[in-house]
Formats: sequence, C-alpha cells, structure tokens
Amino acid sequence: MPFFELVPRRILPADPNEDNFPLDWSPPVSRLDSFIRRLTAQKLLIERAVELVADVPGPVLELGLGMARTFDHMRTLMPEREIFAFDNVVVAPIDMLPDAHHFILGEIRETLAFCGPRVGAPAALLHNDIGSGDEIHNAATRAWLAPLVPKRMAPGGVVITSFTMELPGYEKLPVPDGVSANRYHFYRAPRS
Ligand SMILES: C[S@@+](CC[C@H](N)C(=O)[O-])C[C@H]1O[C@@H](n2cnc3c(N)ncnc32)[C@H](O)[C@@H]1O
Repeated sequence: MPFFELVPRRILPADPNEDNFPLDWSPPVSRLDSFIRRLTAQKLLIERAVELVADVPGPVLELGLGMARTFDHMRTLMPEREIFAFDNVVVAPIDMLPDAHHFILGEIRETLAFCGPRVGAPAALLHNDIGSGDEIHNAATRAWLAPLVPKRMAPGGVVITSFTMELPGYEKLPVPDGVSANRYHFYRAPRS
C-alpha cells in the first residue's frame, strides 16, 4: 500500500491558493489541541464561577472526581468551602483524594439524590464533569441528571456543565471569553 494511503485524508493540509479551497475551512483540531482546549475552558469557567458565587453560601459539588484536576483547582481557589466530590471509581492520586466525609462513592444517579444529609446545605456551585464525547451518552445522562440538580442548589448558585441541561427558571449565562459556546454551559439558579 503506498504511504499516502496510510495518511488520513482529514489531516492533509488544505492549500488556500487552490481554487476549490473551502471558505469555511479551518485547521483540523488534534486530540492534543482538543484536550488543551477542554482543560483551559474548565479553568476559565471555574475561575469565573468562583467570582459569581462569592456572595452565595454553601458547599461545592464536583460530579466526576476523576484524576482530581478540577477538584484540586477548586479547593485551591476556595479553601474556605466544603467540596463534595462524586465518582463511582477511585482513580485520583491518593494525595489528591478528598477525605472520606467529602468523597461520595457510587453511581451519581443514586448518590446525588440521597446526599442531602451528608452535604448538609444547598450548593453554591455544581461542576458536572461526567459528560463524554458521545452525544447519545450525554442525552441519556442529561435525562436523569438535570431533574436532580435544582434540589441540590442554593439560590443564586452556579452550575457548570459539559452538556446542556433543562433547568427550569435558571438563567443561562454567557461563557467567559476563550470558551467555545457549545463546549460548556453555565447556568445560575434563581435568587428566590
Ligand atoms: C472526565 S472524568 C472527570 C475528570 C475530573 N473532573 C478531573 O478534572 O480530573 C469523569 C469521571 O466521572 C465519573 N463518572 C462518570 N459517570 C458517572 C456516574 N454515572 N456515576 C459516578 N461517576 C461517574 C467517571 O468514573 C470519571 O472518573
């Protein structure tokens, strides 16, 4: 097989001098660029959310502890807040784990519904990081997750989510500059 047939078509560079150069062409986004954009967006959104909830009392809910990257960023920015992290597996480095009281292990579909007595107060900030690149999976998750969220949120609380959610009465906030509008979504609970 000739070498050029091994090169995926979509990464061949387009030549802007060609007559048939498409006007809407943009360089392909590599997996590395996509990952960097995702982490940059999360950082910008979390930092904006911290400002927005400065006057909203309550803990933070981190849905999807994963490797604890966003958890650690949030606890660095909000050392005074309790942060409850949810996951159904433990994959974070051991020194990044929350203590046992603040780590809620299990299926979020079940634990979020029943975490009230442990969490103790409505949340100022909820960060949903259990989405995936699969729209069908996101749609299925959205269907059970969105109805559970309002019960957990304080008035004026902020929701950061990697997929859209139907949150009645919530204001959809613009995402900060530097975050693609379709990549992350920002909602604010009504004040009363
Ligand atoms: C993208 S990772 C989270 C990354 C993490 N926020 C970080 O910054 O390192 C998603 C995590 O959500 C967890 N997760 C996904 N769906 C879940 C569910 N239904 N219940 C509990 N945990 C879930 C996965 O186990 C995974 O660790």
